[in-house]
Amino acid sequence: DWSMAEFRDAKIAEIREQVGDGRVICGLSGGVDSAVAAVLIHEAIGDQLTCVFVDHGLMRAGEAEQVVGLFRNSYNIPLVHVQAETLFLNGLKGVTDPEAKRKFIGKTFIDVFEEEAKKIGGAEFLAQGTLYPDVIESVSFTGGPSVTIKSHHNVGGLPERMNMKLVEPLRELFKDEVRALGQELGLPKAFVGRHPFPGPGLAIRIPGEVSKDRCDILRKADSIYLAEIRNAGLYDAIWQAFAVLLPVRTVGVMGDGRTYDHVLALRAVTSTDGMTAEIYPFPSEFLARVATRIVNEVRGVNRVVYDYTSKPPGTIEWE
Ligand code: XMP
Repeated sequence: DWSMAEFRDAKIAEIREQVGDGRVICGLSGGVDSAVAAVLIHEAIGDQLTCVFVDHGLMRAGEAEQVVGLFRNSYNIPLVHVQAETLFLNGLKGVTDPEAKRKFIGKTFIDVFEEEAKKIGGAEFLAQGTLYPDVIESVSFTGGPSVTIKSHHNVGGLPERMNMKLVEPLRELFKDEVRALGQELGLPKAFVGRHPFPGPGLAIRIPGEVSKDRCDILRKADSIYLAEIRNAGLYDAIWQAFAVLLPVRTVGVMGDGRTYDHVLALRAVTSTDGMTAEIYPFPSEFLARVATRIVNEVRGVNRVVYDYTSKPPGTIEWE
């Protein structure tokens, strides 16, 4: 049985052996996995690593700033921050099909990443924070005939296109092990403990058409929900909690007036690897408090519902 310190040392040796004096590019997604992979690789090979953070404008509130701050200020890891919100939002205009959204975002991500990689002079190696469940889930998900439930967004396709070799030091690990490794590497506890966040970001939490306005509404509601979860001391007991902005409008009453605004769904699940999940049973007073705050504080939302579906048959994300 490995301790995390031994695992870290073994991986560092392995990365040095694989990479030699080659250059490595790592795409940061804003999530824990790619950040842990990057910090580990940086320990192994220092400035032979460059990180590229493609900011698609579909992040949660404050997320981009956190990642950039952490890498530039705390770790001094060279980081290219590409602001590509307009590119992504323009391309998502009129796109409502979940797989079409995923495909567009994945492809555009690769285009932007490739362009940045060229600008910094290219590299022989591409680093990714692929985990063990990602390896399994992208092979076959249902156990039956191989059906694609969702095309997961990572940088698949990029290595062949750019003729790069992959560095994937987390391939044998589950999420809780990645968190332990992150802490072993000195990443702040609050950062490694963050809930998973999908590559396509808020786009798959806005069924129907995505727009800047809808992203802003969702970011605001989501941050109220998460703040209440933290206040109640429940954050670490939950695998993932987030809000989903529905394209459905309903009638409500506010003061003396009629409202006709969006419905927001709240989701929270427990899980160990994301492959199966149970709903988190909040006390009803908690949900009522969150609903009241959101309807009062977020313009554009006048009704809040809670998603009671486990996985399976539901997936964790709505798209
Ligand atoms: P589902 O919705 O398939 O999600 O039950 C399982 C876990 O995977 C995350 N997820 C993704 N992560 N790229 C990612 O990096 C993706 O395209 C993607 N889609 C879903 C989801 O948030 C959950 O933790």
